[in-house]
Amino acid sequence: MGSFFTLDQHPRDQRPQIGFAGRSNVGKSSLLNKLAGRKKLAKVSSTPGKTRSINFFLVNDRFYFVDLPGYGFAKVPKVEKEKWVKLVESYLTDNPNLIGLLLLLDCRRDPNDDDEQLIDWMKVNDIPGLAVITKADKLNRDKLNRKLHQIENNYGIASIPFSTISGHGKNELLTAIFDLINK
Ligand code: GTP
Ligand code: MG
Repeated sequence: MGSFFTLDQHPRDQRPQIGFAGRSNVGKSSLLNKLAGRKKLAKVSSTPGKTRSINFFLVNDRFYFVDLPGYGFAKVPKVEKEKWVKLVESYLTDNPNLIGLLLLLDCRRDPNDDDEQLIDWMKVNDIPGLAVITKADKLNRDKLNRKLHQIENNYGIASIPFSTISGHGKNELLTAIFDLINK
């Protein structure tokens, strides 16, 4: 539907929105492409800081996937970073159509302060959240299971592993997303 650098022009219709949030380079745009079954829908890059606007993708004319800029990327100039933070914050707050947030966490890293802040925000604002543990192809099964339990136990949110390479987790995640939308 479009890319937005300020929130005054973004779609205002009542269709539900699923947000994709997480640290820069964690795999948000890749996940969106995989779920949509399209290789180049959202722009992917190995350089962190690729997504700089809020991007709305209308799916089956029914709901939106919303790809958000990543946070915590050190090399972005401070002024630019503050702009993104404001943009993402204003998107997340005061948005009745946001019915679920996918919080992406790299399976090899521990959640940082920004991740934890987002988890707190989801709880305070009563936005159903799902942790998507990305790049699951990088860990063996034992380590991956430990990671999933760690996130669920520490933060009390359901976690689903995901790999864009193997497709691991795709069906489980789609089912969870459709559950959110049908609620
Ligand atoms: P920003 O837009 O900068 O916030 O990043 P992003 O979170 O949208 O990440 P993006 O999808 O652009 O992917 C970042 C890098 O991670 C790319 O090089 C992807 O190919 C790689 N990547 C994404 N998902 C996976 C995965 O499941 N496995 C592996 N091995 N690499 C992945
Ligand atoms: Mg991106």
